[in-house]
Amino acid sequence: MAVGDKYRAVHRRSLSDPEGFWAEQAGAIDWTRRWDKVVDRANPPFYRWFAGGELNTCHNALDRHVERGRAEQTALIYDSPVTGTKKSFTYCALRDDVAKLAGAIAAQGVVKGDRVIIYMPMIPEAVMAMLACARLGAVHSVVFGGFAANELATRIDDCAPKLVLTASCGIEPGRIVQYKPLLDQAIDLASHKIPRCLVLQRPQAAAAMVPGRDIDWTEAAAAASPHACVPVKATDPLYILYTSGTTGQPKGVVRDNGGYAVALAWSMQYLYGVDPGEIWWCASDVGWVVGHSYIVYGPLIHGATTVLYEGKPVGTPDAGAFWRVIAEHKAVALFTAPTAFRAIKKEDPDGKLLKHYDLSKFRTLFLAGERGDPPTIEWANKLLGVPVVDHWWQTETGWAICGNFVGLEAMPIKPGSCSVPSPGWHLDVLDEQGSPMKAGEVGSLAAKLPLPPGTFPTLWNADERFRQSYLADYPGYYKTGDAGFIDQDGYVSVMTRVDDVINVAGHRLSTGQIEEVLGSHNDVAECAVIGVADELKGQVPFGFLVLKAGVTRPPQDTVREVVQLVRDRIGPVAFFKTAIVVPRLPKTRSGKILRGTMQKIADGQPWKMPATIEDPVVLDEITGGLKTAGYASKG
Ligand code: COA
Ligand code: AMP
Repeated sequence: MAVGDKYRAVHRRSLSDPEGFWAEQAGAIDWTRRWDKVVDRANPPFYRWFAGGELNTCHNALDRHVERGRAEQTALIYDSPVTGTKKSFTYCALRDDVAKLAGAIAAQGVVKGDRVIIYMPMIPEAVMAMLACARLGAVHSVVFGGFAANELATRIDDCAPKLVLTASCGIEPGRIVQYKPLLDQAIDLASHKIPRCLVLQRPQAAAAMVPGRDIDWTEAAAAASPHACVPVKATDPLYILYTSGTTGQPKGVVRDNGGYAVALAWSMQYLYGVDPGEIWWCASDVGWVVGHSYIVYGPLIHGATTVLYEGKPVGTPDAGAFWRVIAEHKAVALFTAPTAFRAIKKEDPDGKLLKHYDLSKFRTLFLAGERGDPPTIEWANKLLGVPVVDHWWQTETGWAICGNFVGLEAMPIKPGSCSVPSPGWHLDVLDEQGSPMKAGEVGSLAAKLPLPPGTFPTLWNADERFRQSYLADYPGYYKTGDAGFIDQDGYVSVMTRVDDVINVAGHRLSTGQIEEVLGSHNDVAECAVIGVADELKGQVPFGFLVLKAGVTRPPQDTVREVVQLVRDRIGPVAFFKTAIVVPRLPKTRSGKILRGTMQKIADGQPWKMPATIEDPVVLDEITGGLKTAGYASKG
């Protein structure tokens, strides 16, 4: 057999016989009721996996392992350099804690189908909170700690939770992030009123409690009776995870229970090549999809040990932190974002700190969240001497669209490419008319419907938005929103987004959303935001402001205020630090702002004068402004 044949056979089968292929993989999961249909195609373009089946995801992640010999195996290792804490939980201990917490949540009247918001830092209780909701069949929605109150309020109003689970604070290097005042502010801002909050008091900061609404987490969990797993339909939602769209209104990506569990179990074994019982580390955050799938659900469903790391790749305390965690816990694989490796490379380009650690158990590095740039991949590969696998996925897809399936058959790695499609993914590169393009040509990456298990069945309360955003442009396909090409060997390269989504340090942001905030400032008549290239973060947002006639204050005052406004309204995670004031914005004759051209100028890339431009002189003004700000150095 030639290299790649094994993978190709699996992939081919997943497309020619999806029912047979996924039914076989579903054997890795415990079901309380077997499905009637592997994929229900009755209501296209809405497809449902394992329709009629019933299961409980928390049972699959914890109880069944306790019952079948893993009770004393470590399920979770919490490693927190920012608090100087390390703690391990066996499967049995984690199951017991989760069952008690589920009891405390149920005591607040939460039942199957109710929504619960989780606004928490990277601590074991965040993992327990997710699993406890899953245990009850409640639908959790985790909100990343770096978002501001306003973003939290938007999510509260969209999913109307019965309960919020939070902690008093998060810890960023050098500062304590007080979560509770942010939550209180969000609850004030939201129209939907939250009857109850369960608040975990961390020793680093005490939260002020609102009498009658806020309940002490520790006391409530201690007083609760353990709650059993509640079976849910395979097609019932496990969680909602909000992600940036093209407007200020984030999209509530829905994840089901059954298809997700099946896809995660498959991927842990065959994509990540991890065996049950092995130690796996995903250095992301529970607030992102990567954290949901591969800090919490994937490794636990698979019976592996997951590492929960509350720290950064650098500064906690140094650029050897990742090597320490891998060595100390004997992790066989690490999954993180390329930006984390760029941060390490910047601090310790020769990898001197690696020499202090024994990484002999370490087999593979997985990168995702943004394009794996070849220099970073090559640097990591040379330093660590293990395969560095770039794999591509999205909040919407829940697991990888493409990757290198090292647990099935490692294929040659081509730096710059995220390798080959996952089972069930039939990818095409389409031109503007929706026709497939030739190998090597760059176009819109789209996947034939139905998407495989684990991917989103719809957006929360927004079927029509789901259809319009993803399915309307290319009938029969899911539009990924990414552009790229597929080479002659079937390897996929993802180059850029086709919409106004930018990727800042592996975090997905909408420039439209930032523009909405800038536009709300009193001085601002018009604005545009682009993502400019950044050596460390991949991209960072950059704003252009046109001020209202009659504004006479120094422009830097307005800039300072809009920077603060974005931090207050969206959060520090937006990393919006720079804007310039310009006399006008470059536009087409039909009034469309030429963001793409501005971005090329800022990045010093070659650019062409757009034929449809209203007034070419504006681009000179923009170039001048960018040069003064230290951009547009080449081109
Ligand atoms: N709560 C509150 N604030 C947070 C936060 C959280 N959970 N996470 C980040 N922030 C803040 C940071 O403190 C920073 O604030 P500042 O502007 O006041 O310094 C801002 O948000 C930007 O954070 P970040 O982009 O994380 O920058 P950083 O300099 O702190 O760290 C990296 C840089 C590369 C270490 C970091 O971006 C990283 O690890 N990225 C990987 C992302 C990832 O895992 N993505 C998921 C896909 S795999
Ligand atoms: P998110 O939904 O936050 O996970 O962001 C998804 C987006 O990140 C994708 O649509 C891509 O634009 C980008 N992305 C994620 N992984 C990769 C990758 N391996 N290569 C290129 N882009 C990626």
